[in-house]
Amino acid sequence: MWITGAVYFALCFNTLVRRNLPLAAAIKTENLTKTYASRGRKTNVVDHVDLEVEEGEIFGFLGPNGAGKTTTIKMLLNIIYPNEGTAYVLGKEIGDISIHSKLSYLPEKPYYYEHMTGMEILHFYGKLFGMKEPHRSNRAKELLQKVGLGDAGSKPIAKFSKGMQQRIGLAQSLLNEPMLLFLDEPTGGLDPIAHIEIRDLILQMRNEGKTVFISSHELSDVERICDRVAIIDRGRIVKQGKLDTLLAGGRVEITAENVPDSVAASLNTDGVITSMHSGRLIVDAPDTAPTDGMLDAIRGGGATIVSVIPRRKRLEDLFVETITKPRERAS
Ligand SMILES: Nc1ncnc2c1ncn2[C@@H]1O[C@H](COP(=O)(O)OP(=O)(O)OP(=O)(O)O)[C@@H](O)[C@H]1O
Ligand SMILES: [Mg+2]
Repeated sequence: MWITGAVYFALCFNTLVRRNLPLAAAIKTENLTKTYASRGRKTNVVDHVDLEVEEGEIFGFLGPNGAGKTTTIKMLLNIIYPNEGTAYVLGKEIGDISIHSKLSYLPEKPYYYEHMTGMEILHFYGKLFGMKEPHRSNRAKELLQKVGLGDAGSKPIAKFSKGMQQRIGLAQSLLNEPMLLFLDEPTGGLDPIAHIEIRDLILQMRNEGKTVFISSHELSDVERICDRVAIIDRGRIVKQGKLDTLLAGGRVEITAENVPDSVAASLNTDGVITSMHSGRLIVDAPDTAPTDGMLDAIRGGGATIVSVIPRRKRLEDLFVETITKPRERAS
């Protein structure tokens, strides 16, 4: 009997490997493509996209307006269907809706019945998820507190500020205790304090073991909280990887005073930019340059080091150097 079981297991495993199904990836897309026709011309607005998101990470999905972020998310949620390729979410192919109870979605433009209060909205979605009382009420109260709307649960949504609407959206997206959250621009248009609070909430989700897929234009938020990112431009993935790796290649700025010209000249090697004004030297060097040796040379010449400032590459720099400029797009 167990031989039959072993054979069955081997067949299943073989099928999994042959179909290259992800065993630990929360999301894996294979040539995912969406085509729309406009004025008789077909365009791949999502163009053979291969993405891989690991379980338990915060993944940032970046790209200019119209790049294909929301369209990709909607395909992953089976709201719209690919014209080519496929994707796997929590190990199931996207057409398999059995996984949907473990997913949640905060759309980029959430729409709620405005006459309902924050509490009523959460009950409404709770009922859709089949949540029973008293669990539904307890969970709604707990989430209103968690997103900072503890005092606003009885206010109609029509009177909510943009930040409050974003918070109720997050509460809604946490109702079903999802394993994987899709947040489409969760901090768009929020004030700086709200940014920090929402960022903290997202970090808390990762600490609870959830996987978070965020589409965002807020590069400083992404830089602070995401483990890995992908950049999409005109439907195609143009960069993907660990944030630390993608942002490697920062620079170091050394400022020193009373530096002899001969010492300043000796520092002028490959990739190092020096500028000298009245004995004050500024050295702008790649972070791979031998900084210790440079500091020794400056001190050895009798100069005083004023500051040494490491400057990490910013996500904004990576974004700008990666994305095709509008003028180049038109040509
Ligand atoms: N239903 C549709 N019919 C035709 N074209 C569409 C449709 N939905 C989206 N598009 C087009 O697909 C492209 C990608 O749109 P999408 O909404 O995915 O971009 P996005 O990256 O989310 O942009 P944003 O940052 O502005 O939210 C755009 O050119 C858009 O006009
Ligand atoms: Mg969008």
